[in-house]
Amino acid sequence: MKLDHESMRSFWMPFTGNRDFKSEPRMLVKAEGVYFWNDRGEKIIDASSGLFCCAAGHCRKEITEAVYRQMGTLDYSPPFQTGQPLAFEFANRVAALTPAGLDHIFFTNSGSESVDTAMKIAYAYHYARGEGQRQRFVSRERAYHGVNLGGVSLSGMIKNRQAFGAGVPGVAHMRHTWLPENRFVKGQPESGAELADDLERLALNYGPDTIAACFVEPIAGSTGCLVPPKGYLERLREICTKYGILLVFDEVITGFGRTGKAFAADSFGVMPDVMTMAKALTNAAQPMGAVAVSDEVHDVIMKAAPEKAIELFHGYTYSAHPAACAAGIATMDIFEKEKLFDRAAEMSGYFLDSIFALSDLPVITDIRGYGMLVGIDLKAQQQPGVAGLEAQKRLFQNGLNLKATGDSLLVAPPLVSQREHIDEICSKLRESLSSMT
Ligand SMILES: Cc1ncc(COP(=O)(O)O)c(C=O)c1O
Repeated sequence: MKLDHESMRSFWMPFTGNRDFKSEPRMLVKAEGVYFWNDRGEKIIDASSGLFCCAAGHCRKEITEAVYRQMGTLDYSPPFQTGQPLAFEFANRVAALTPAGLDHIFFTNSGSESVDTAMKIAYAYHYARGEGQRQRFVSRERAYHGVNLGGVSLSGMIKNRQAFGAGVPGVAHMRHTWLPENRFVKGQPESGAELADDLERLALNYGPDTIAACFVEPIAGSTGCLVPPKGYLERLREICTKYGILLVFDEVITGFGRTGKAFAADSFGVMPDVMTMAKALTNAAQPMGAVAVSDEVHDVIMKAAPEKAIELFHGYTYSAHPAACAAGIATMDIFEKEKLFDRAAEMSGYFLDSIFALSDLPVITDIRGYGMLVGIDLKAQQQPGVAGLEAQKRLFQNGLNLKATGDSLLVAPPLVSQREHIDEICSKLRESLSSMT
């Protein structure tokens, strides 16, 4: 199909300047390994693993074949009151990776659904304990927790909230963790742990027994890779435990090796009560998300319901879809066989050094990074977001695709990347950004 302006009319593109895009399309038609190809047959390196999801690289044959086989065996089965074996197998595989004690897996179809599911599980847990008055949530400025109304209410990105009403009532936001003195710090900054005390202030302001859960991305991803200061997550954990507040880590970006371990919870040594995930869960070959829940939270909800009753009135038509489970299991096989989390840990030093070497470019005002995830801030032009979009377009023309949010560029290469791919990414960044001021 030849795509001209008219034939692009019907598709309302998500999170895209539709009119701008349709006058200047950037079309991807093929992918393999760490590369895309555009509709002119040009090769484009994928510097953001799609949207942080294709950790094992694109078009992995093992995943394609597993999905194909499953579609010819059991294409769909209703997930309510009937089961299919892959759902149980995949839940066990995910639980084997999540931190010990976070072993109960609820499947969804996206990160956004995982976040809203985690909010409902938090409500249900407190309700089951006779603390149904815990209806407030605490999250953070500059947070991104997806686009469903629960997640948008938690989110701390003005554009994602502005046009969409007041949201779920009772959400309070802690300050974000970006501090000017921590510019160009590689890894965890030394200062800023005290920002976690915002949680205690909010708890004491609203009443600690009114707060159901505190949601944070261990590394705030979408707003530019804000790495938690040393001691920050530990402090959040302490305050949550002190006041009976559930700690939820949104690991939709950080999960599955991005930080050099299975989850950021492992990398930072802090254990949440609930963890959301999606993206690399299936290497993005099928849409899927999941929520990992602690024994305590799970068991309380189970025990509150009569023996044969439904314990949680929640689920999706496509929860644990057979094709998604097949993709997920094949993905876990690749992660294991190729030791991709260890590989990420090994490559991280080279990756971070190479990206931080771009600090001399005048347009770059800050770089932050941890594991295989980096945020690069560009000097803002008259309007926020203009520099980010301009850079993204220049880079695409120069054969590099990445995710930009506002004026931050996010670099998160597939975990299968070799040094030569990191070199290619960095030299294209230098070429494209050096003429921007
Ligand atoms: C931390 C976090 N939570 C939730 C989401 C939403 O995931 P999805 O786009 O799959 O709904 C994202 C997406 O980038 C994310 O980064």
